[in-house]
Amino acid sequence: MSVNVRGKTKIVGIFGFPVGHTLSPRMHNAAFQALGLDMIYLPFEVRPEDLRDALQGIRSLNILGVNLTQPHKTNALEYLDELSEEAEHIGAVNTVVNREGTLIGYNTDATGFGQSLREDYGFDPRGKRVVVFGAGGAGRAICWALSQAGPQRLVIVNRTPEKAEALAREFGGCVTQWDDPEMGSELGEADLLINATSIALDLEADMISDTVLIYDIVYARGESSFIEQARGQGARIGKGLSMLLYQGVSAFELWTGEQAPVQVMREALGV
Ligand code: ATR
Repeated sequence: MSVNVRGKTKIVGIFGFPVGHTLSPRMHNAAFQALGLDMIYLPFEVRPEDLRDALQGIRSLNILGVNLTQPHKTNALEYLDELSEEAEHIGAVNTVVNREGTLIGYNTDATGFGQSLREDYGFDPRGKRVVVFGAGGAGRAICWALSQAGPQRLVIVNRTPEKAEALAREFGGCVTQWDDPEMGSELGEADLLINATSIALDLEADMISDTVLIYDIVYARGESSFIEQARGQGARIGKGLSMLLYQGVSAFELWTGEQAPVQVMREALGV
């Protein structure tokens, strides 16, 4: 890809720590180029203690907006001027837009996840049984998106049970512990199983049904032996890259006001 930065080139980017693994620059720069937009997407390694200054910098450097990734999604809330309704409900922001000096926080993870399920996997959570592992920023966005769809049962599992309980109260789910005897039946009956933790899922493949959709939202990690075994016994495996794509599509549209070239972005990610 050739880069042609001019005096008027608008800048967007991503704040993360670490940030080296991100595929977002590839996806967004391909989209800018395809639409002939004079914009560039850059990675910024921002330490947690520098987040406030970095967000102020968006204003002072007249950057058009940023994505936020780990560990900034929830910590950014207090430094932004306004939040979208979703970001406010979810309590996490992954996209910031600078509207003439006002920093507005959005959450496109939630809509991106829902769109990924629908568009790439033909899966509608309405009336389905869902188990979510993880109750951090990503887990919150996913549970909110699911609660909007109306699943029959939403079970949340997290290392720190208090966080799962808070989420379950807010979004109408229930909580199970990793070592709970009920866990086997919850897994066996689940139509959708989501890993929103920062570690690989390590379950027994014989605990799950053959028709379950297993969705690991972290695209950077390889398949665990559990996922390999589950695939071998017929389970469908959802790709985190698909969620990355759709959250990126919404962020692109917020920054540019243009319809995103979804196919170009998909090809840039190799989804
Ligand atoms: P993100 O924005 O990606 O959601 P996060 O808010 O830091 O990141 O959340 C990370 C999630 O992974 C949490 O659910 C966390 O569990 P806790 O709430 O108990 O911290 C989970 N997680 C991280 N490391 C883990 C580990 N070693 N074992 C189990 N769960 C872990």
